[in-house]
Amino acid sequence: MRLYIDSADVKKIEYLNTYYPIAGVTTNPSIIVKENRPYLELLKDIRAAIGDEKELFVQVIGDTAEEMVEESKYIRNQLTGNIVMKIPVTEEGIRAIKLLTADNIPTLATTIYTSFQALVAAMAGAKFVAPYVNRMDNLTIDGVKVVSEIAALYKNYGIETEILAASFKNVQQVYDVCLAGAQTVTVGPDLIEKFIAFPATENDVQVFKTEWQKVYGLDKNSLVGS
Ligand code: G3P
Repeated sequence: MRLYIDSADVKKIEYLNTYYPIAGVTTNPSIIVKENRPYLELLKDIRAAIGDEKELFVQVIGDTAEEMVEESKYIRNQLTGNIVMKIPVTEEGIRAIKLLTADNIPTLATTIYTSFQALVAAMAGAKFVAPYVNRMDNLTIDGVKVVSEIAALYKNYGIETEILAASFKNVQQVYDVCLAGAQTVTVGPDLIEKFIAFPATENDVQVFKTEWQKVYGLDKNSLVGS
């Protein structure tokens, strides 16, 4: 499983990238406008925070395939490192995915609400698909079930496109898509921090410390030295 940060908050990205096993950063227009800064400068700061190796996902806003292709080439020329272009799974988007794939530009098909959209996007050459789990749940479409169906379809057809599940409001949804066959997930910073938070763990750590100090003294806070 690979974990991406779904955010453009550079400070949070720096923090999470230091503490957690992060594969890269995904953005979308809504996420970028929240930062209220020139977007290229912002994307360059994100790139600097994660380095050139890790993937940075940037979404197009054009309406036609030609506009999406032009934007993709522009963004990739402006930024360094490993860039994946996010393309909405519209008819024009599917055409853009075909054109970009023919040009060896990696794409992620985004705004996926059905497993059949994911199948068509993969057939067009998308390297990733992003099913929107919580947004599906809000429409009473079972988001986790859609992810498991996409995984089954890809297995049936020997498709290598990866499922990058997106749009989560709780850790259970993230856990369930991992079990359902998503190879990767993108999650907002607040939720990532909840992944390992567990009161029993904190309590155990404190008990170990207290027992240790009873024998070796309060000043002995480390195993280093004698
Ligand atoms: O990456 C897509 C994601 O940002 C959508 O999430 O929480 O806005 O539904 P959300």
